[in-house]
Order: sequence, then C-alpha cells, then structure tokens
Amino acid sequence: MPPILVHEETLDPGYVPPSLPGREREYRTLEERYRTRLGRGVPYHTLVTGGVGSGKTALARRLSEDLRQRVKIGGLAVHPLYVNCWRRASDRTVLLDLLRGVGVSLPDRGYGLSEMLDVFEQGIRRDPRHLLVVLDEVGALVRQGTKLVYLLSRAREVGLGSISLLLIAPQDVLPFLDAASRSSFGVTHRLHLAPYDAPALEVLLSVRAKQALRPGSFSPEVIAQIAKSAAGAGDARFALEVLSSAAQAAESAGRDEITAEDIRAAKGSIAPTLTEEKLTGLSATALLVLLGLARSLKGSRTNVTTEKARQAYAVVAEEHGAKPMSRVTFWRTVKELERDGLVDVEAAAAGQSARLAMNELPASTLELLVEERIQPPGSRKR
Ligand SMILES: Nc1ncnc2c1ncn2[C@@H]1O[C@H](COP(=O)(O)OP(=O)(O)OP(=O)(O)O)[C@@H](O)[C@H]1O
Ligand SMILES: [Mg+2]
Repeated sequence: MPPILVHEETLDPGYVPPSLPGREREYRTLEERYRTRLGRGVPYHTLVTGGVGSGKTALARRLSEDLRQRVKIGGLAVHPLYVNCWRRASDRTVLLDLLRGVGVSLPDRGYGLSEMLDVFEQGIRRDPRHLLVVLDEVGALVRQGTKLVYLLSRAREVGLGSISLLLIAPQDVLPFLDAASRSSFGVTHRLHLAPYDAPALEVLLSVRAKQALRPGSFSPEVIAQIAKSAAGAGDARFALEVLSSAAQAAESAGRDEITAEDIRAAKGSIAPTLTEEKLTGLSATALLVLLGLARSLKGSRTNVTTEKARQAYAVVAEEHGAKPMSRVTFWRTVKELERDGLVDVEAAAAGQSARLAMNELPASTLELLVEERIQPPGSRKR
C-alpha cells in the first residue's frame, strides 16, 4: 500500500504553516500594524487573545518570520525572539531566554534583574537589531506582577534600544498590568481570535491535509466529519490531531484511504467524550435505536438516512423481542439522543430526509457498549 502520511512533519505541533486559512484578516491586520509602525521607526506592541487551538501561536510565529524576512526598521533587521512563559513564569527566567536570544549568556543564579538587563543591553549593542519579543502564555508572568513587560514596552526610555512586544494569552491580561504598561496596549493594540467554526475548520483541515497526506487518501466527507466533530471547541489543534491519528490508523491497517470509522476511533482515543454514564441513563428503547444506528454506521459511512436507521432499528428490535416503533416515536427517540449528545441530526436538503450521524466514538465500540447494557433476548419475560 502507498503511504498516507507523505509529509508527516507538516503535522508536527512545531511546524509553522506557510499560510493560515481562516485567519487571513487577522494576519493582515497585525502585519500591517507592525509593518507601518516599524517602517516609521516606531516600536509597536500588541496583545493577542483567543481560546485553545485558535491559532495564536501559529499567527505569532508566522508574523515573526515574515517580518524578519521583509521589514527593516531604520536600516535595522527585525530579530524575533520567542519565549513561552508557561514554565518560565518569572522575569528572571524569561530574561535568561532573551539573553540567549541575543547571543549572551549568564549563569542562571546570582544576578539581579538590573544586572541582567545591563548584559542584555550589551548583547543588543553588539549586534544592533530591532527585537520583536513574543511572550507566549504570558498570563502567569503578568499575574506575578512582572516588571519585565513594562521595561520592554519602554525599551527606548530605559536605554534598551528598539523593541516591539507581542503578548499572547487566552484572555485579556491587561487588568493585571500596571497602568504604565497598560497604556501601551490601547484598543488598536489588541486582537482577539474567535473560535473556529465548522466551515473554517473544514478549509483549514483540507489545506493542511493537502500538505501532509497523499492525494486520494482523504475524501471531502472525512474532512467535513472531523471539522464538525471539532467545531464545538473551535480548536484547530484537536482537529489536526484527529486527522493525524486517523491517518496513522488507516496507514498501519494497510488501507490506502482514511475512513469515517478511523475518524471516530481517533476522536474516541483523543477525547473520550462519551461517558458510560450517558448510556446508563438511557431507556431500553433508546439503547436499541442507538444500536441500530451503530450497526448501520459500521464500516465507512459518515451518516445514514433516518429511514435506513429506522430499518436497522427494526432488525435490532426483532432480535431483542421489542415492539416495532412508529416513525413519530422513532423520531422522538432520535431527538432525545441528540439532546444527550449521542447522535447528530444533520438537517436535510430540500426534498431529502434528514441524516443521522454519530461522531463520538467508533460504531463498533458503541455497539459493544450498548449490547452490554441490553438484556439478552429471551431473558425478557412477559
Ligand atoms: N488558520 C490556521 N491554518 C492552519 N493551521 C492552523 C491555523 N490555526 C491553527 N493552526 C494549527 O493548529 C494548531 C494549534 O494552533 P496554535 O498552537 O497556534 O493554537 P493556540 O491558540 O496557540 O493554542 P493554545 O492556547 O493551546 O496555545 C497548530 O498546529 C497550528 O499550526
Ligand atoms: Mg499557543
């Protein structure tokens, strides 16, 4: 079988994609703000906020690289320095990273902030460049009452040369900053990334899939299925993880194409959202409807028509000695399952019937779980 993951490295979390579909507007806004200010020789600072997997880090990395290549500030090149502050939540540890970034080093003990800043300044002097300092996950640093953000935002005044800042946090951190630093982050210095919706994730996934996977190994339906199942959180990282682990599963099973079942399995292993409790609360009828649906989805289908699902239910019901069900009752049960988050009802196009999907976990797993809970036929008296 030909491999599926032909450029696996492009799905690595550290990979910075050449373009960011769905964030073109935000990218242009940021790029223009920095480019015009820096072009005039003025540093510029921004705070970028957004939820998990909304593309904050990717946006900052892309921007840093593009500014480095394209922009000169008063004859100086732009030199981006990226620090993730999550585990280095003190001014000193962040500054140690910045020192390394300008080619100087200090032992990490025994120096105070002001001595370290002197050494930082020497490093900058030795090779004058405009620094674009990206402080990712800056929340913890800010809540500890950082002085570094203030010093970097007023670099010129405090004799540190030419520095622009890009701060990244899930939420607004400005209320935690001192008034002087806050004043550097007015309204035109903020950018919020809204969560990705399903159509945005679909575009993003198909662009990334084209880069990473062999053409023909994924269908538009499979991409849409992942997008839909990740849209709740709007998290591109989760969506890409599902894509990558589904591709791995298909490849190691020796198949040449990713199937709907691979996606359900991948999603189930990454975020087991379906708890056994949900099933425990269901009526016997609902369990049978779910079992019918699981069986009709086994294999590579992403969804089935309500009619198919109802026929599958009829077979299961007969096996288990349960009564047939009217269309109306069947539909009501489906809607209950939808409310519990176990079934997705996909709106019908004109003249067609609605389709049912179940994106939570592999149909085969669901079948087992449901069967465990249904009494075996014959044990049911009356
Ligand atoms: N618009 C996009 N186009 C292509 N890939 C994207 C896009 N947005 C995000 N990604 C990818 O999704 C993953 C998550 O994005 P990123 O790490 O930037 O999120 P984040 O907002 O920094 O999340 P966190 O708050 O968890 O750090 C990365 O692999 C990134 O390359
Ligand atoms: Mg990030």
